[in-house]
Amino acid sequence: MATHTQDTDDTGASESVSDPLLRTEGLTKRFGTLTAVDDLSLSIEEGDITAVIGPNGAGKTTLFNTLTGKYEPSEGEVRFRGERIDGLAPHDIVGRGIARSYQITNFFPELSARENVRLGVYAQHAGFGRSDLLSHFTQQEDHLAEADDILDRIGLSEVATEQAASLSHGQQRHLEVGIALAADPDLLLLDEPTAGMSPGETGEAVDLITELNRDTTIVIIEHNMEMITDISDRIAVMHHGSLLAMGSPADISADERVQEAYLGEDRR
Ligand SMILES: Nc1ncnc2c1ncn2[C@@H]1O[C@H](COP(=O)(O)OP(=O)(O)O)[C@@H](O)[C@H]1O
Ligand SMILES: [Mg+2]
Repeated sequence: MATHTQDTDDTGASESVSDPLLRTEGLTKRFGTLTAVDDLSLSIEEGDITAVIGPNGAGKTTLFNTLTGKYEPSEGEVRFRGERIDGLAPHDIVGRGIARSYQITNFFPELSARENVRLGVYAQHAGFGRSDLLSHFTQQEDHLAEADDILDRIGLSEVATEQAASLSHGQQRHLEVGIALAADPDLLLLDEPTAGMSPGETGEAVDLITELNRDTTIVIIEHNMEMITDISDRIAVMHHGSLLAMGSPADISADERVQEAYLGEDRR
């Protein structure tokens, strides 16, 4: 740690000018005897797009699940802006400014694109999770302007009133991102946002992610190496739950351990 001034409060939280936006220290998540995330220490710098890559089962989604409070870490800590967030409930972590989109579909298929995004904005203001939402949701015009602004950013204005279920696969993935944006996050975690997309849809997703990165730090789990190399500032490589390597796209593509880890293994 550098020698500059550092404040520590009675919760053990500390913040200093050199803190990354997010930092894990010895983060470990076990399921029974399986160690899905194994002693992982990494830093996410504010403003970056950081890619997390690794073979199927490497622990990438579990990492997101421990960062967002879905799972409590078995060991280690997570700091956001220098403050401990491990052990907090998911809605508290969203409230701190971390939002995610899911590898699996998370919207209400029978509602319109606009209603889905408006629900997300409403959840953020009301301070409870999406599972409680429908029972509280009013049919008033609350948060419509915010929802329409998000729909514009994710390129879905023209289909705002269409049922989410009827949207194309690419549009549904953008809707997922829109719901995450409703939380107005400082850090956006994207789990395989281009999975199943056509090349054209992937191109649109790249444009969207690049645009969002103008004011949001992004961590993206992704298998498309060409895309990752193009858009990432840094790449973290996971293998069997551990951090195998972390560096610039050029460093990672030249790293022999990374190439070995992928040899003979399916990238998904
Ligand atoms: N809820 C869970 N219960 C038990 N095992 C799990 C659970 N979630 C993930 N795992 C296991 O943890 C390992 C890492 O999974 P995951 O994080 O989904 O990998 P990735 O996203 O890199 O493909 C896998 O072996 C997976 O089967
Ligand atoms: Mg996964």
